[in-house]
Amino acid sequence: MTSAGATHSSPAHAGAGQAATHQPLRLVPIRSIGPSERERVVRHLIALEAHDRYLRFGYAATDEHIHRYAAGLDFDRDDIFGIYNRRIELIAMAHLAFSVDPQRASCAEFGVSVLPHARGRGYGARLFDRAVMHARNQGVSMIYIHALTENTHMLKIVRKAGATVVRDGSESEAHLTLPPATLDTHVSEIVEHQFAEADYIVKTQSKRFHDFMAGVQEVRQGVRAGRHKSAG
Ligand SMILES: CC(C)(COP(=O)(O)OP(=O)(O)OC[C@H]1O[C@@H](n2cnc3c(N)ncnc32)[C@H](O)[C@@H]1OP(=O)(O)O)[C@@H](O)C(=O)NCCC(=O)NCCS
Repeated sequence: MTSAGATHSSPAHAGAGQAATHQPLRLVPIRSIGPSERERVVRHLIALEAHDRYLRFGYAATDEHIHRYAAGLDFDRDDIFGIYNRRIELIAMAHLAFSVDPQRASCAEFGVSVLPHARGRGYGARLFDRAVMHARNQGVSMIYIHALTENTHMLKIVRKAGATVVRDGSESEAHLTLPPATLDTHVSEIVEHQFAEADYIVKTQSKRFHDFMAGVQEVRQGVRAGRHKSAG
């Protein structure tokens, strides 16, 4: 619920910049999304059911709201991160929105969504880690997360990362103070970026090959059907 919106397991989790306290998960390729992928963002968000949209945006977002949100994404100012499946569909995405308020210049807001079938695999937490690392590297000192109080999964993610959660009735606001970037955060981000790009290229080529083979198969079936007709 926010205006906002591959990491490995080295967490912001367990507190930004602190040592990890839980079992590392496998490396998850998280890619930085560009403006050419607005349609994918739309498809991802439209696939969310009504209650998930409410949790994500804090209001009952219609398809029209989602189209407007995607059209308004500022890829120069903000960062959008995504996790893709083999068909290059976005199964999880996060929006790190940098503050436009000069008095909160070093603040950013985090929002995230994971498609229902991909939940519980740690993607939400990994996206948060990735966003925190990027935010630190961009000089952000405080990250905010607005969530409904009922959103236990989201609040679990941010609490585990060391955020302070302030409850205000049905809504909660969490904030996490970020330590300054280090050589490690800069190098890690470069490595994760390269890994995610490589993964994306492999998935794209593999999808192209599968689409090509499906096309060949369709032509073969068409030829067979034609033969069958002319023989009959
Ligand atoms: C909140 C959301 C992003 C979490 O995504 P996710 O990928 O499932 O999150 P993770 O797998 O990292 O899980 C986070 C925690 O919630 C728990 N969790 C996730 N799904 C769960 C489920 N179905 N049942 C029980 N626990 C669950 C996980 O076990 C994990 O806790 P742990 O670290 O103690 O194991 C996802 O549910 C979602 O997209 N919801 C709709 C949109 C939304 O609420 N956005 C957040 C507002 S900004």
